Amino acid sequence: MLPRDAVPAGPLVLRELTVADADAVTSGCSDPEIARFIPAVPSPYTLDDAHTFITKIAPDLWDRGGACFAISDSPAGAWLGTVSLKPPDVRGNGEVGYMVAPWARRRGVASAAARALAEWAFAQGVARVELVADVDNPASQRVAVAAGFRYEGVQRGASPLRDGGRGDVASFARLADDPGEPGPRYLPDFPGGSLSDGVVEISPLTLADADGYQEMMGEPEAMAYSVPPEPPDMEETLRRCRYTPLWWLTGERAEMGVRDALTGELAGHLQLMNVVPPLGQAMIGYNLARRFRGRGFMTRSVGLLTEWAFGHTALHRLVAGTAVGNTASQRVLERAGFTREALIRSLLPSPDGGWDDDVQWVLLRD
Ligand SMILES: CC(C)(COP(=O)(O)OP(=O)(O)OC[C@H]1O[C@@H](n2cnc3c(N)ncnc32)[C@H](O)[C@@H]1OP(=O)(O)O)[C@@H](O)C(=O)NCCC(=O)NCCS
Repeated sequence: MLPRDAVPAGPLVLRELTVADADAVTSGCSDPEIARFIPAVPSPYTLDDAHTFITKIAPDLWDRGGACFAISDSPAGAWLGTVSLKPPDVRGNGEVGYMVAPWARRRGVASAAARALAEWAFAQGVARVELVADVDNPASQRVAVAAGFRYEGVQRGASPLRDGGRGDVASFARLADDPGEPGPRYLPDFPGGSLSDGVVEISPLTLADADGYQEMMGEPEAMAYSVPPEPPDMEETLRRCRYTPLWWLTGERAEMGVRDALTGELAGHLQLMNVVPPLGQAMIGYNLARRFRGRGFMTRSVGLLTEWAFGHTALHRLVAGTAVGNTASQRVLERAGFTREALIRSLLPSPDGGWDDDVQWVLLRD
């Protein structure tokens, strides 16, 4: 069994739970976010549930070789949250889990606790500590990165949901000999969350964009130049919107909505994909809803994106591809400073079932 002594956690401390924590645990666990992302937590949550947790569930975890600490500001301080380590699985790996009371969030509590728990587990001989976060839970994914865990991929349908369904989870892990410090993010957040020139604004896609995206991508010209050239599938659109924070955080791709800066309306879609860090290269792609065309929206948006990419990432080559006949898209690239680089033959699937040639464009950092 693991030792139950208090563990320092930066400015915080991990200490044993006591019945004196019951009131705080009851208020904290009544939070809808906790109910949403930790389906094992009863909802609604009562004082009896808190007592059961403190006197039965947490001690049972310790007895089975796991750990369950209160997170606090000091050894006798108030409960701010809980951090736990599951008993080792069949391969001897541990898994960290956490929750933070709504009144203690956004000040590094979960990150400090997850980091301290992992390092404490390594000191107890655990070789690998895993961390899974719902794909819809960017806050928890950010905790993982901030606590030095490395992203390892998505496990589809791996997590039971409160409604009886199954959800995808993002998997992270820390090994005992990992450096434990988060490296610089290849795709940092936009400063302040969005980029704007006063006419257009670009910001990450959200679930609220799903209907507008779906409608826009169903327009005939959008479909003709999509890969594959078909109407989008709503499930795929929802997945794109839900995964955007995870893809951005892990440097896989950036999916953006182009918005009318005056009204906030979704006017288009812009993406940075095929990100290849060793080459410092990524590809941009875009589409503007028909009713916003002819106003320079996409040229402005591409300009905002390329300026950010060269100013805030290590990318030095931005590329784009257009069908040979797609004059409007080629004009956008020319006006945004791109030059023609190559003609790739029979690359793009065309609506008639054949293959179209692709004009490749490039914009270099210098
Ligand atoms: C997820 C949770 C534990 C985060 O706790 P926290 O103490 O606020 O987290 P931290 O202050 O350590 O923040 C860590 C990072 O997450 C970010 N973050 C925190 N809350 C966020 C939110 N609601 N949206 C987006 N980012 C958020 C912080 O800005 C920080 O990012 P940075 O390192 O890039 O600056 C807390 O929101 C919670 O208890 N949620 C409900 C239960 C839950 O989801 N548990 C995890 C299940 S896997």
